[in-house]
Formats: sequence, C-alpha cells, structure tokens
Amino acid sequence: MINVRIQPKQMEFFKARGRHICYGGARGGGKSWAARVKAVMLCSRFPYLKVMLMRRTLPELRENHTRFLLPMLQGVAKYKETENCFYFPNGSILKLGYCAAEKDVYQYQGQEWDVIILEEATHFTEEQMTFLTTCNRSVRTDFSPRMYYTCNPGNVGHQWVKRLFIDRDYRGDEKPEDYVFISASVYDNDVLMKNDPGYIRTLMNLPEDQRRAMLDGDWDVFEGQYFSEWRRDLHVMEPIALQPWWPVYRAIDYGLDRLACLWCAVDEVGRAYVIRELCVSDTIVSESARQILELSSEPVVATFMPADLLGKSSQTGKSIYQAFGDAGLHGTPVSNGRVAGWSNLKEWLHPVDDGTGGKLPRLRIFSTCKELIRCMPQLQYAKTGDLSDAAKDPHDITHAPDALRYMMDGWLKAGVQPKPERHHRQPVPIQRQAASIIAFGGRR
Ligand SMILES: Nc1ncnc2c1ncn2[C@@H]1O[C@H](COP(=O)(O)OP(=O)(O)OP(=O)(O)O)[C@@H](O)[C@H]1O
Ligand SMILES: [Mg+2]
Repeated sequence: MINVRIQPKQMEFFKARGRHICYGGARGGGKSWAARVKAVMLCSRFPYLKVMLMRRTLPELRENHTRFLLPMLQGVAKYKETENCFYFPNGSILKLGYCAAEKDVYQYQGQEWDVIILEEATHFTEEQMTFLTTCNRSVRTDFSPRMYYTCNPGNVGHQWVKRLFIDRDYRGDEKPEDYVFISASVYDNDVLMKNDPGYIRTLMNLPEDQRRAMLDGDWDVFEGQYFSEWRRDLHVMEPIALQPWWPVYRAIDYGLDRLACLWCAVDEVGRAYVIRELCVSDTIVSESARQILELSSEPVVATFMPADLLGKSSQTGKSIYQAFGDAGLHGTPVSNGRVAGWSNLKEWLHPVDDGTGGKLPRLRIFSTCKELIRCMPQLQYAKTGDLSDAAKDPHDITHAPDALRYMMDGWLKAGVQPKPERHHRQPVPIQRQAASIIAFGGRR
C-alpha cells in the first residue's frame, strides 16, 4: 500500500509509547511523513479508531497531507471531501482537522478522538493545544488515547513545546512520564539527503538564529519571537499598592471582535506598571465604555486610542472615537505607525540595573493581566521580514499588545520616557501592605 522505507528516528517515533509523543527539531527530518504514515498505520491496525491529523490552517493541511493521503489511500479508504475524512473499511476514521483562528478549536468541543496528531505543533497556541487534549479521550479497553506532535523550533507554540518536551518543566497534574521527545535532524532523512543534497546547503546558509533552529533543531533560539527579551520572571510581578499621586493612563484597542483596554501607572522614579486589563469579545462601543469606566477606580490622565478610530462610519456618520466620547469616555488619538510604538515598548521592557545588583525592566505587568501576559511572548516578527515590526496574525494575540503599543505612542507624545538607569527598589507586594489602593475623584 505504501512504499515504506522507514528511517531509524521515524521508527523510534512509531514505536514510542506515552500519552504525549513529540517528534521535533530540525527541518526536513521526515516528521510530516512519519505523522501521516503513523495515522494510516493506526487506522489500519485498530478497527473503529478515531484519529484526527491537524494542521493550523486548511491550505497547509491540503498541501502537506491531503494531496499525499489521497493517492496513498486510493482503493483503501473512502475520502469524503465535505467532511475532510477518510473512512477505512474496518470502521476507523482519519479526520483532517484545522483551527486557524483561536476559537476555531471549539468546533471540536464534545468530540472524542482516540488519537490527535498536531502537525507543526508550534503553530498552535497553548490554549488550542490544551483544549484539544480535552477531546483526546477514549472508552476503549484495547487502546489508550494519545497525542502526537511534530514541529520545528519557533512560532507561537515554541514555548509550550519547549517547556513540556525539552525543559521538562511540569506543572499541576502534568506527569513527566507522559511526555516523550524524539529529536529530528535532516541528516536522519537519507531520502532527502540522497535526492536533494542542496537542501542542507540551503539550511546552512540561513542567518545564524534561523540556522540554529532549522538545521540544528536548537530550541534555545526562539526563532521569530518578536519580544525575545520577554522573561516572565522579570516582566510579570505581583500587584503592589498604587500611590494616589502616580499618574494612570489608559490605552484602548477596539474592534467589534475584541476590545483590549490597559491601565498603566507610573511611579515617582519612572517605573511603569500595567495594573489592569479589560479584554472582552463582541462588545459594542457603549458597553465597552461602560465597563472601562466602571473598572477605573482612579483618575486617568489620558486614554490613548489609535487614530484609525477617528474614521467616520458611512452608516452612522460617526467615528468610534466619537461614540466612545458620547458614552463618556474621551480619548486622545495616537499614531497607528507601528514601529515607533514597538521600539519604545522594547526600551521599556529592556532590563536595567535595579540598584541591588540585579536587573529589572522599567515596565512590568501585574500578574492579574493574564491576557496581556499570554499574548506578549507569542507575538512573532512580521512575515514581511521587517525586523522592526510584529506580525498581525494570529489576530487573536495582537489586541492586548497593540493596546500597549498605543500606550507607548501616547507616552512618546506626552513625554513619558523611560528614565536612565537608576536605583530601582523592589516594591512591596500588595498582600504585605496595609494600604489599599486609594481612589479619589476626578476625571475617569
Ligand atoms: N521514510 C521515508 N520514505 C520516503 N520518503 C520520505 C521518508 N521520510 C521522509 N520522506 C520524504 O522526505 C521529504 C521531507 O520529509 P517531511 O516533509 O516529512 O519532513 P519534515 O521533517 O516534516 O520537514 P519540515 O521540517 O520542513 O516540516 C518529503 O519529501 C518526504 O516525502
Ligand atoms: Mg513537516
């Protein structure tokens, strides 16, 4: 049925036992081939097995798998295009799935799959992976449910793959024995080495970071991460009490699909804190304004909004900016120019001397701002290759960082600048302070 010439590492992958099996590393090692063949082998071997082979997007799925599976399974399994499914004569199903947008993953809610294979797993966000693991269950006695992952370093899922399979840093009820990693190298793939020896040269000629990730399969290079300076232990802090004289600013990124509003305070020595966030979906302007004002327990110096919100709607003749104003929330427009905002943000995130021999960034984020903390490390470089800009997709992860970028633009105009390196004394966490956040009247 298949012209099988299995490479030793592929064999290791086929034989691996565990709840989560990852075959990852360098480009061209034969990972996708192995994932596809493993899916077919499982469906052939176990009757009534339900296997889902996933890529992040439908075109990737077609290009990397459907077009190979169609000839491979011709006369063996029946393909239903409308369902993206192969039906095997023994009752097994091989479904080709995808979840391009973050929420697409919910189409699988309530489903049970004996096997889920995430091909190019680092293209999936941690939330998508976590949700999909809830669909990987089985009541069969002859088969234990399992997930397979194939991937290269880099992309939005780099960190969760690295944590689980490389760093082996387990949290909650994750069990180390459930996670198996098989490293892939292009040198393992003799078919490719024989038929296309020039491919190695292509990988060798990549820029240093990309070469380390793509040829050596080095997970310490986060290829493509826009905020490569991001370190949770440095940039995230427990909330502290705000002093009433600290100026507080708001910045808003608004689209019908998602509102992100951030509140930032700046202390007397120039340290900045993202103290609060509001990130909600499908919320109209008046309701967004109401929720923002309700959460603002301190006076606000300015609320920065991107200038494109000034554009008037052809239907209402009003801009979103005006609509916010009508709802009592008056904004200050800031530039949509991306690069100045990002570069200012990088300045604020850059760790400087904290006066105690350590280093701390000038801007830190309260641990309660979960959405911003989730999205910041996932932002990638723009696909255009412009190293000064971040990618605009996956769209879901851009809203909260975009709001922070508007804050930076607003601060540039307001003259709120990162101070030169100076003594940064560690503030005391809020639980240890008797003082509560003092709210006083004024403009909200
Ligand atoms: N055992 C095999 N027998 C025949 N051809 C193979 C085998 N393993 C891999 N190949 C071929 O080698 C090439 C590279 O394999 P594959 O696409 O699976 O690599 P990969 O590790 O997924 O690459 P990438 O990192 O770019 O996703 C493909 O043309 C594939 O069909
Ligand atoms: Mg591949």
